[in-house]
This record gives sequence, C-alpha cells and structure tokens, in this order.
Amino acid sequence: MSHEHDRVLILDFGSQFTKLIARRIREERVYCEVHPPTVSMEWIEAWKPAAVILSGGPSSVYDEGVPTTDPALLRSGLPVLGICYGLHLIAQLEGASVDPGRREYGRAELTVGRAEGIFAGFEPGETTTVWCSHGDHVDIPPPGYEALASSDGLPVAAFRATDRPIYAVQFHPEVAHTHRGDEILSNFLFEVAKCRPTWTAGAFIEDTVERIRLQVGDATAICGLSGGVDSSVAAVLVHRAIGDRLTCIFVDHGLLRKHEREQVERLFRSHYDLKLIVEEASEPFLADLAGVEDPEAKRRAIGARFIEVFERTASREGTNATFLVQGTLYPDVIESVSAGGPSVTIKSHHNVGGLPDDVPFELVEPLRELFKDEVRQVGRELGLPEDFVGRHPFPGPGLAIRILGAVTRERLEVLREADAIYLEEIREAGLYDEIWQAFAVLLPVRSVGVMGDARTYENVLALRAVTSRDGMTADWYPFPPEVLARISTRIINEVKGVNRVTYDVSSKPPATIEWE
Ligand code: XMP
Repeated sequence: MSHEHDRVLILDFGSQFTKLIARRIREERVYCEVHPPTVSMEWIEAWKPAAVILSGGPSSVYDEGVPTTDPALLRSGLPVLGICYGLHLIAQLEGASVDPGRREYGRAELTVGRAEGIFAGFEPGETTTVWCSHGDHVDIPPPGYEALASSDGLPVAAFRATDRPIYAVQFHPEVAHTHRGDEILSNFLFEVAKCRPTWTAGAFIEDTVERIRLQVGDATAICGLSGGVDSSVAAVLVHRAIGDRLTCIFVDHGLLRKHEREQVERLFRSHYDLKLIVEEASEPFLADLAGVEDPEAKRRAIGARFIEVFERTASREGTNATFLVQGTLYPDVIESVSAGGPSVTIKSHHNVGGLPDDVPFELVEPLRELFKDEVRQVGRELGLPEDFVGRHPFPGPGLAIRILGAVTRERLEVLREADAIYLEEIREAGLYDEIWQAFAVLLPVRSVGVMGDARTYENVLALRAVTSRDGMTADWYPFPPEVLARISTRIINEVKGVNRVTYDVSSKPPATIEWE
C-alpha cells in the first residue's frame, strides 16, 4: 500500500473482536492491518505505523507462554492503545500488578474521570455504557501512568502514560454495545495519534491500479468471473490497470439464477469492454452431480469440475497467462493470522471454486485488504451499477446447494423460477437492501394439496431471508405478513410443481444461512 496513508498496526492477541477494531478504524478512513504479536520491534519500525493497537485476547498475562510484545514498543514514542488484554499487557510490562477476579462480562457503566485524550469531548464525571469481557483487572496504574476512568466494578477502567501517547482501556470500544466507542477510537486516531483520514475508495483505486501494474508488468492475467461483487470489482480494477491483457472467464455451470449469465455478459461487454469468455459447461457439471445427495460431495464435484473447465478454457484461448486474479477479502486473510508463533503465515484463500494450491499462476488479489462494504464502495467508485454492487452474496456452488438431495435439470428449473419471483417481490416491496441475503430452497419432500378440485402431491419450497453484517452470524428477516402472502401466492400459482411454501425462522447459529 502506498505509504502516503497513515497506517495503524493492530497486534492481534486472539480476541474475537479484532476484526471489529479493524472495521472501525477503516470506517474512520484510516488504513490499518492486523498482524500477529510476534512481529519484532525492527519489523514494526520498518512498517512505520502511525499508531499501534494491542487487541484483547483469551489469555491471562500472568500465565506461562502467553503472547506478549517487545517492551521497546512502549519506549518508541509511537501512540499505543491497549484494549482489555492489551491493557493488562501494558500494565504488566510497565510494572503494575494484574490480578484475577472482579470479572465483568457484558454491559458496565463507565465513569470518566479525566475528559482528555481518548475521552476528549466527554464531561468529567460523566457516565456512559461500555461493554466488557474480562476476568483480570488492574487496581493501580503502573508508575508513570494515571487512571482516566472507573467502572462499577473497577477503580481503573482506563489509564494513560503521563509523558507518552499511551492509552489503555479495560472495556471494548470496538463493539456496538459500547455507546460512545466510535468516539473513543476516533479520539485515539485523531486527537492522540494525529492520523489523517485519507483512506478512501478513490485513493485505494489509484494505489491499487499502480500496484497491479508493478506486479503484472508486461505479462497477462486471467480471472474467474462469477458475477458476484468481489470477483467483479477485482476484475474491473485489474482491467483498469492492464487493459486487454486481462481475460475473464465466466463458467456457466448450469447452477445459476434466472438471467444471471445474460446480466453478467451485458455488464462486462457493454459497460467495460472487457475481454470476456463465457464458457457453457452445464452438461459436465450436471453429469458430475447426477445422484449426488451429500452437500460436501456436491461442493467437491463442482470445485473439481470448475478447475478442469477453467484451465481447459484458459489454455484453449491461448491466454498464456502467468497471473490469476482472485477476489480474496480481508476477513479471509485475518482469519488465517493467529496469535501463534513467529512462523505464522498468511495463506491465500482460493475463492474461484476452490482452486488447488499448486495452480501454475501467481495470484493477484487486489481486494485482500478490504472488507465487503469497502469492496462495494470501490465498486461504486469504479462505476459498477448500484443494483450490481448491492447484490446479495451468491455461493460458488450456486443452486446445487439449494436443491436438497439430488440435482436435476427439472428441479433446477422449478427452483430458478421460484427464486426469481421471490427476489422480484422483495425488490418490489423495497426490502432488497434491508436484507443481507434472500433465496429459495427446494426441499426433498412432497406434500398434499388441492388445486381446483384436484388433489396435488408436489414439491415444498422454503424461503430464507437473513440480516447479517458479515455472514458469520445472522438472524431471520421479519417480513411484513402481506409480503410473504404475496410471494407465496405467486409462487404456488406460477411455478408448476410447487404446492406449498414455508418460511425459515432460524438464526445462525445454530442454523447456517444456506441449508446445505
Ligand atoms: P453459511 O451457510 O455457512 O453461509 O451460513 C455463509 C455465507 O457463505 C455462503 N456460502 C458459500 N459461498 N461457496 C461459496 O462461495 C460455498 O460453498 C458456500 N457455502 C455457503 C452463503 O451463501 C453465505 O453468504
């Protein structure tokens, strides 16, 4: 990344909220990255952070073999914010006692003592709701530090160094339940660390296009275009960098939604003049899937066939590509960074239908520093139409994992029609953007019905719609009953082979978003 941006380094001690810290900082338009705490002080200095955040974590600092950081960090003059475990670590490294007990889980009331630094804009003595998750605490700040706030259970819920820009909080400012958490983080970034909020979609595009040109040089690249937001934005970025030295391959595996192939073709051919090969391959995919009922077996069959078709198409077209473009996102990258030993590596996730590790290509992953909503912003900035950028996620194995049991052309047709009506009605009701993902699922059961005066014995369809932030957790969407009624009536009347529609009211966990 261009070093013109101020960058924040987040050292991850294993907290489940580390990703959220990164999200919040990016929302403040400051670039940040998450790294394991085992990085050396030399590495940190070379990385040139404008500030460092020490995350929370599941360990206790007084235990054996727990992750720590070089104490030189606290002497370096760099602004540092310790959160939860990060607070304990600063306390311990600076000579204070960290003790077990006085656990606080969930909501706590924080009383601000000094409305300065990270508490700028608060009133002295003001109370505010914060969210905690800790079993250890610090009763007296280390020498050279002073307490800034207390909570119901703790005399020291935040402290700072008196002569350096080092702050620490016992609670989690990054979670939404901490009411003024954004303000506290923003104070750290802008009041304490004097960061400049330059991280915008426009700046990202400029930097990234330049970086792709450097990486690819005069060579050529291929991209597996799925029509989803990530691969589309990645393709358009690389296209902007290297023009028609990029070839995109869209594999039609016969498991797409209604009109999906045409929409993708229209967009990329007319809008971007991008070199696009659409490979019709529904025959081999459906042949591989014949009689396959197990969801993982379906995924494996689709993944293997995808690689075969993709490689065959690329070689037939004589692209001679040495680079492969992938739409890997930052959450996948962070997932593989652990608070483990110095040998921790960041592995590449293959999201083009699960390409194997020994692909004969060098990867170009222009989105590997972005979160999903940042990708959408970049897509908008690149001129992708709103209805494309805002599309619900669609899984690589497509409708195959939404037909429970064996996949056949007939069942695909039933599901495709029902799904199209479902999405059309959601759009019509103005609810599409409120919902994170909505789709229909064809169940492997039949039910009795009556149509006209005749008995029917037909398919049952389940509708799923969820709200979510990142797909990790999700809740079912509470449709107005009249919308559900309209959808159900239309599907049963218009889709031959369906006589019953049900609505899935399960959250994730314990259910997953997809049924398979
Ligand atoms: P689950 O069902 O695990 O889904 O709660 C979370 C998100 O991931 C998508 N998903 C997939 N995407 N290949 C994909 O590319 C897959 O095999 C796959 N399985 C689930 C799902 O649609 C949801 O957005």
